Amino acid sequence: MRDALGETLRLVQISDCHVSSDPDATYRGRDADSGLKSLLPAVSAFGPDALLLSGDISEDASPESYRCVARRVESLGVPVLALPGNHDDPGVMRSFFPEGPWAGPLFRHQGHWLLVLLDSTERERIDGVIGVRQMKALRQGLASSPAGHVLVALHHQPVNVGSPWIDKYSLEAGERLMDLLRSDGRVRCVAWGHVHQDFRARREGMTLLGAPSTVANSRTGQEKFALDDLGPACRWLELAPDGTVDTGLLSARSETQ
Ligand SMILES: [Fe+2]
Repeated sequence: MRDALGETLRLVQISDCHVSSDPDATYRGRDADSGLKSLLPAVSAFGPDALLLSGDISEDASPESYRCVARRVESLGVPVLALPGNHDDPGVMRSFFPEGPWAGPLFRHQGHWLLVLLDSTERERIDGVIGVRQMKALRQGLASSPAGHVLVALHHQPVNVGSPWIDKYSLEAGERLMDLLRSDGRVRCVAWGHVHQDFRARREGMTLLGAPSTVANSRTGQEKFALDDLGPACRWLELAPDGTVDTGLLSARSETQ
């Protein structure tokens, strides 16, 4: 990762790959590994300083699925930060993606920015939760950081995205997390996966972002998942030294959107 002060930090968020150990398995009728693979040229062309994997990397939490995704993303030759989703097994996933919130939040300083990765998963739950211990560690980590600007990433959406099929599995007590992030005053961006759609909102100085999936996405504002026309996609982010957040999507069609 670039570490010089004064440079814009470029990230690509890859989310909800849902790769299985069975090469013949499909996810919502799509080949998960092909979806991820189709995006790699566009990601490479963007030239990120690091990748952020925001959960549901695997469909079945198998070592084979993580090995497959790890090989794909490592081919890009940049650092990989990863956090788990409800389909993942953190205990298995961490051995393939060592940089993550495996023993509490991950804090990574990069120039003027602090990147914070949280684990919002709990065994046997589809929705998300940030427990008391992690909240305390987050508060302490933010308080001790000299960073000018902060990006926080997690799998589950802390605010509703307007799609009932996935909002019923959002982050429990999401407003408690949002209150903490707002009170810090330096959190410029909160980014999540899980929602399988492009979501963008501004709230009290923060850019809120839901990432699309690398395999199958839904049209927005749906009662039930409804496959969109975009196909596999991922999010690019540019984090400027002055705290500005710029973002858009990369698709297999390769032009930014
Ligand atoms: Fe999920």
